[in-house]
Amino acid sequence: MCGIVGYIGHRNAWDVIIKGLHRLEYRGYDSAGVALMNGDIKTYKKAGKVSDLENFAHDLDKSGSVGMGHTRWATHGAPSDRNSHPHYSGDGRLSIIHNGIIENYAVLKEALQLKGHEFRSDTDTEVLIHLIEEIQNSDGLELFEAVRVALHEVVGAYAIVVMSNEDPDVLIAARKGSPMVIGVGQDEYFIASDASPIVEYTKNVIYLKDNQIAYIKRDELVIKSTDNRIQTPYIQELELKLEMLEKGGFDHFMLKEIYEQPRSIKDCMRGRIYPNEGKIQLGGLNEYTEKLKNVDRIIIIACGTSWHAGLVAEYLIEEYGRVPVEVEYASEFRYRNPIISEKDIVIAISQSGETADTMAAIEMAKEKGATIFGVCNVVGSSIPRITHAGVYTHAGPEIGVASTKAFTAQVTVLTLIAFFIAEKRGTIKQSELVHLLTELEDVPGLVEKCLEANDHIVQIAEELKDSRNCLFLGRGTGFPVALEGALKLKEISYIHAEGYPAAEMKHGPIALIDEDMPVVVIATKNSSYEKVISNIQEVKARKGTVIAIVTEGDKDVTKMADYTIEIPNANEAFLPLLATVPLQLLSYHIAVMRGCNVDQPRNLAKSVTVE
Ligand code: M6R
Repeated sequence: MCGIVGYIGHRNAWDVIIKGLHRLEYRGYDSAGVALMNGDIKTYKKAGKVSDLENFAHDLDKSGSVGMGHTRWATHGAPSDRNSHPHYSGDGRLSIIHNGIIENYAVLKEALQLKGHEFRSDTDTEVLIHLIEEIQNSDGLELFEAVRVALHEVVGAYAIVVMSNEDPDVLIAARKGSPMVIGVGQDEYFIASDASPIVEYTKNVIYLKDNQIAYIKRDELVIKSTDNRIQTPYIQELELKLEMLEKGGFDHFMLKEIYEQPRSIKDCMRGRIYPNEGKIQLGGLNEYTEKLKNVDRIIIIACGTSWHAGLVAEYLIEEYGRVPVEVEYASEFRYRNPIISEKDIVIAISQSGETADTMAAIEMAKEKGATIFGVCNVVGSSIPRITHAGVYTHAGPEIGVASTKAFTAQVTVLTLIAFFIAEKRGTIKQSELVHLLTELEDVPGLVEKCLEANDHIVQIAEELKDSRNCLFLGRGTGFPVALEGALKLKEISYIHAEGYPAAEMKHGPIALIDEDMPVVVIATKNSSYEKVISNIQEVKARKGTVIAIVTEGDKDVTKMADYTIEIPNANEAFLPLLATVPLQLLSYHIAVMRGCNVDQPRNLAKSVTVE
């Protein structure tokens, strides 16, 4: 995915755009560019980060109060100056920035080449601006109409902004399948992929819908559907606060977000749990109570970290709600021909609410008649729009590319959903629910205690930072925690790491163990404690280094392990919310010690809006 920003008003457009691009850099950071209207369109673009673009343009004239900018995560065409956005038409009159993928670009390109168009880049985006140019030249259409007509020929996803030398005081914006927000100021408008570049200027925003196209001047906004019907814009007030988008004294967003977890877990439960009464209130699911009572099967679809949260939910929903659960990678599920019936409920989990594979899997399950619930973090994103119902995680903006607080918020919401299902189906005693909810209410405080191990974890990170491989083992809900720990380590420190169910180790991975193999084991006091101890012995017998996450006061594992990290004692159901935290810190410190870019790891983007 990429980040886009547009501005038209009375401020210096460059300043607004560059600041906005920095905020959106989590969406992609392999190249960046800006187009400014300054007499005619002036384009500045560079491979690398937004700061590289700033350095490049340092001494250049950057005046103008209309412009647009882009930060890229490459899909078509390698990251390079020439593949950076904005792209322009053959005659240089028109300019475009684009987030998404034009799937039929090859066919369009060939047709345009036959008409004499020559391309300067390898991107799908450049094809679209040539198509708009072609339509204007052949049909004599105004810019807005030409863009609208061109979009009818496009297959795929897009959020675009277009500028023209001939309409210097106009921006055209459109979306289908990629997010776009318009900020409404006093004689000024802002356009962005999310509200973060807008919030410091105005709280009033319009979330453009799919197949809508906007004509924007300083004092005029007209929105139409791409089939040419006037749309009434719905202006809503942002809840986002500027300080949520800043590091707040932390060295990295990831560290800030790890430390935010006591707060984000609490926010996630706010107004939803009533421990004394043993009640859970999930407004979004209320009208599906009957459906939940009679459901035969729940299918969970997600990718990456969200998939790990789904694995935790499988344990909890089966344990408490007594409904069979299947957890699927959305990317695999969408390409199978799965057996889905109208009685099935599908839960789609996504932090961004924009992941392409998850969206496609939802559409497929919907077509087959399933009821779809979403568990998403980004309010107003695409997945909540295409699901039947859902529950937001309310973790606040997550900017670090490696997911941390979004994961624990997802697990919290899914725990609530498991209890909600159990309550509705009568598979849990009221007294047990009272007990569980009372304990759950204490979890934010326990997470706070987990964070106190930070200094000790720094010392362990020092010992592990030069490792080339690492194994993570866990049983029960400790297994998804192990997977999540391994994913965190590999994505930000580039150390090869694998998560395994502890008992599976002897079926293969044990061959890897020697004195150079650190093994992180989730070894808290729960139903599989004794069995995990045996697994630790197997590792120690082969000279592996054991780093164990243990319950405070633990004696047995502590005697065997090389390093231990204590977490507070809690109900087994809440283990993932606690045991994940030290693993996040461990990965974070190792990555920092290795000099890695923690918030923007190489090759990654915050949400993957392509297949
Ligand atoms: O936005 P989503 O939750 O749908 O994203 C899914 C994955 O792309 C995401 O969790 C990814 O694995 C993160 N880099 C994990 O830290």
